[in-house]
Amino acid sequence: MTGRIGTNVERAVEILRNGGVIGLPTETVYGLAADAAQAAAVDKIFRIKGRPTHHPLIAHVDSIEMARQWSSDFNETAEMLGSTLWPGPLSLIVRKATRVLPQINGGMDTIALRVPGHQMAIAVISTLGSAVAAPSANKFGRVSPTSAQHVIDDLGAAVDYVLDGGPCRIGIESTIVDCTSVQPVIVRPGGVSLQDIEKIIDVDDRNKTSMRVSGNLPAHYAPDCLVHLADDATQAFAIQAQKCSAGTSRILDASADSVIFAVELYSLLRQCDIDRLDHVIVIQPAQTGIGLAIRDRLRKASHGSIDQSR
Ligand code: TXA
Ligand code: MG
Repeated sequence: MTGRIGTNVERAVEILRNGGVIGLPTETVYGLAADAAQAAAVDKIFRIKGRPTHHPLIAHVDSIEMARQWSSDFNETAEMLGSTLWPGPLSLIVRKATRVLPQINGGMDTIALRVPGHQMAIAVISTLGSAVAAPSANKFGRVSPTSAQHVIDDLGAAVDYVLDGGPCRIGIESTIVDCTSVQPVIVRPGGVSLQDIEKIIDVDDRNKTSMRVSGNLPAHYAPDCLVHLADDATQAFAIQAQKCSAGTSRILDASADSVIFAVELYSLLRQCDIDRLDHVIVIQPAQTGIGLAIRDRLRKASHGSIDQSR
C-alpha cells in the first residue's frame, strides 16, 4: 500500500479536482472526501462506503465565510455557534444554498456544515476552493477510523490517496446541532460537549429526531465482537462471568478519563477484532462532557449484543 498514504496536500487536491476521493484527516475521525461541487465524485463516496444514498453527508468548509456561501439562511444560531466553536468538532444543520447538489444532502432542504479543526484539512479545502463532502471513512455501520492506516485497512484500493495527518486528536465524531428549528436540537452528541453549547445558546438535548442521521440508527459504530455495557467494574466482571464465559473477552474502562478514552475508543474496538475476541465489556463514563458522546457510540455499537436493552 506504499504510496497510497502520504502528507502531500497538493497531490490530495489534484485528486479531488479530478473527481477522485481521498482519506482526509480531521480532529474527530478521518473523512472520505470528495469535491462537494462534483456529483460523480460525491456518488463515489456512497459506493465506496456502501452507504444508502439518502443518508446526507457533512460538507466541510474552511471558514464561517465559506459556510455562509453553502447556506441560504445561515441564521443567528449558526452564527453564534460557528463563530465561537469553529474550527472544531461541531456540525451545523442549516437551510441549504441552491448550489448544494442533491447527492450531498439526500435531496433535503438542509445541509450540515463544519469547519474542521485540522490544519491539513483546512489547507485542502482552501486550495481546492470548494467545500469537501466527507462522511467518516469506514464501511457503513462499522467502526470509524482515527488513523490513516485505519482508512486503508477498511477501504483499501477504493481510496485514491489518504492524507496522513496523524492520529485524530478528539477521536469521536462532531456534535451535530440542527439550527433550523426555533429551539436548536442536538441530533448527535460528539466532540463539543452539551455544556459548551449551552453556554452559547438554549438547546434541546433530548437527542430525539426523526431525521435521517445514520448515527441515529440503532446499530452503528460496531465491531465484529459483541459489545456489552457496564456501569462499574463489579458489573463488568459479573457480565464477563455470566455472559462471556463461552468465548474470549476483554474489559475496557472508559470511566477513568473520558477525554483520553474518546481518543482511543475506535482503535480499542478495532484491536478487539484484530485479536479475534468474542466479547468486549466496556465500563461506561459519567454522563458529562465527552462522556455523553462515548455512551452514545457504545450504545449503538452494543446493539445486537445480548444485553442490547441497556
Ligand atoms: O466528525 C465528523 O462529523 C466526521 C468528520 C469526517 O467530519 N464526519 C462524520 O460523518 O461523522 P458521517 O457521515 O459519518 O456522519 C454525519 C452525520 C450522518 O449521520 C448524517 O445523517 C448527518 O450527519 N447529516 C448530514 N447532513 C444532515 C442533514 N442535512 N440533516 C440531518 N442530518 C444530517
Ligand atoms: Mg460515520
